[in-house]
Amino acid sequence: MTIPLKTAEQIEKMRVSCRLAAELLQMIEPHIKVGISTGELDRLCLDYITKKQHATSAILNYHGFPKSICTSINEVVCHGIPSDEKKLKNGDIINVDVTVLKDGFHGDTSKMFTVGTPSILAERLCRVTQESLYIGIKAVKPGIRLRTIGKVIQKYVEAQGFSVVRDYCGHGIGEGFHEAPQVLHYDSDDGGVILQPGMIFTIEPMVNAGDYRIRTMKDGWTVKTKDRSLSAQYEHTILVTETGCEVLTLRNDDTIDAVITHTS
Ligand code: CO
Repeated sequence: MTIPLKTAEQIEKMRVSCRLAAELLQMIEPHIKVGISTGELDRLCLDYITKKQHATSAILNYHGFPKSICTSINEVVCHGIPSDEKKLKNGDIINVDVTVLKDGFHGDTSKMFTVGTPSILAERLCRVTQESLYIGIKAVKPGIRLRTIGKVIQKYVEAQGFSVVRDYCGHGIGEGFHEAPQVLHYDSDDGGVILQPGMIFTIEPMVNAGDYRIRTMKDGWTVKTKDRSLSAQYEHTILVTETGCEVLTLRNDDTIDAVITHTS
């Protein structure tokens, strides 16, 4: 498997598109309240991307996806389609997944938001999922096996009594939305890939409160847990540096320490 190493110029462009993606999630946060529809959240994001960021959504029309963001509520694992009929209720947990395309490069990130007062389980699921992402990120440095990322995420998630979705994974990203390598969030054969400076990929664990198995709904997009248990996901785009990694989609609400910023 050949994994593209980004040039300094490409990395600079990735920093821009990833910063825009992070800022988009920061922009939408105060709008996530009881009563707003996911269709309205989608319109607010598309407006901000096009009018403020002078960029486009890579999600809109991707393999025919009809909206500009993915909104996945409660037992929806991923790829929930925004709709004016779907209004947020007290206690909901929602993942908003965005991919901003700017100057030919993609920035991909997602996070969970809680609506009103979530259950203790929902809150714990979100926290554990974010911590699993951080644990995966902290493992990233040149010279390690790619599979180490999935190994540490799976170990942490399962120790908390939750499960890691198998059917979706992180991915290389740059001028392509999805490039090599595939970044699995559980321990699995990685074809011997060793991380090198200049690799850029996402880490985006989906964690279920119950069983890891999933079902795709009749709309062809919406993915739910098979047992209808709650599901959560967090995603960052990461650059492997000489000494560790840089979180390109870092937000001001991120709590990860040991983040290595701008080294080049
Ligand atoms: Co992604």
